[in-house]
Amino acid sequence: MRKPFIAGNWKMHKTRDEALYFVLKVSSEVPNMDKVETAICPPSPLLRDLIKRQGENLRIGAQNMHYEEEGAFTGEVSPLLLKSYNVTHVIIGHSERRNLFGETDEDVNRKIHMALKHGLKPIVCIGEHLEERENGKTNDVLERQVKKAFDGVKKEDLEDVVIAYEPIWAIGTGKTATADVAGEACGFIRSLIKDRYGSDVAEAIRIQYGGSVKPHNIDELLDEEDIDGALIGGASLDADKFITMAKAALNHL
Ligand code: PGA
Repeated sequence: MRKPFIAGNWKMHKTRDEALYFVLKVSSEVPNMDKVETAICPPSPLLRDLIKRQGENLRIGAQNMHYEEEGAFTGEVSPLLLKSYNVTHVIIGHSERRNLFGETDEDVNRKIHMALKHGLKPIVCIGEHLEERENGKTNDVLERQVKKAFDGVKKEDLEDVVIAYEPIWAIGTGKTATADVAGEACGFIRSLIKDRYGSDVAEAIRIQYGGSVKPHNIDELLDEEDIDGALIGGASLDADKFITMAKAALNHL
């Protein structure tokens, strides 16, 4: 059985005070980690303060990291630094990183290898543009992204990997993929993992849906057999909404 995983991606939002207030409120109210995993991925400068206050059941992840351990990369965050702060998860290949900062499938692959090397659990984002969906190319795009992202990644390492299916046309637009559409894409991704790594790995790997997930639509999304959680942007900024969505996962164990 796959444990639901509800993660918030704060993107470039919140000041230190706002973030501390949020975590103080949320960490004691999210479900027990035995049942539902929850994480918040804040901007990097907040990681240290939030980890100190994450409590028993909430985990703090990063939104990005570099694929080298250290070096002359101004403005980047090293996997070693994340590790030293006890960061557990790191989002890799978010579409905003790919589209606004030029991250390629090859970069994503290198980052996944580096995260796994240092015991950071990657949340690997994949998803198609609207035009690709309209041209019937969704599965081709997902297949290419999965193939390249996991190039050289060993079967045993997949245990620590979470995949987030985030159709780009649904991110921050208020246009959620219908549960059917999201469920079908997540099922297709699982079939790709099965072809490559076998059914044990495919059955165990968790696949989140992301793209305008809100308290009012999370239930129908989590009802889908192949959706094991959510990666939430906008609605994760509100403590009450995040708590509601984390608790909603309790109905889908
Ligand atoms: P959204 O963002 O929930 O605001 O659509 C999701 C994401 O980008 O991970």
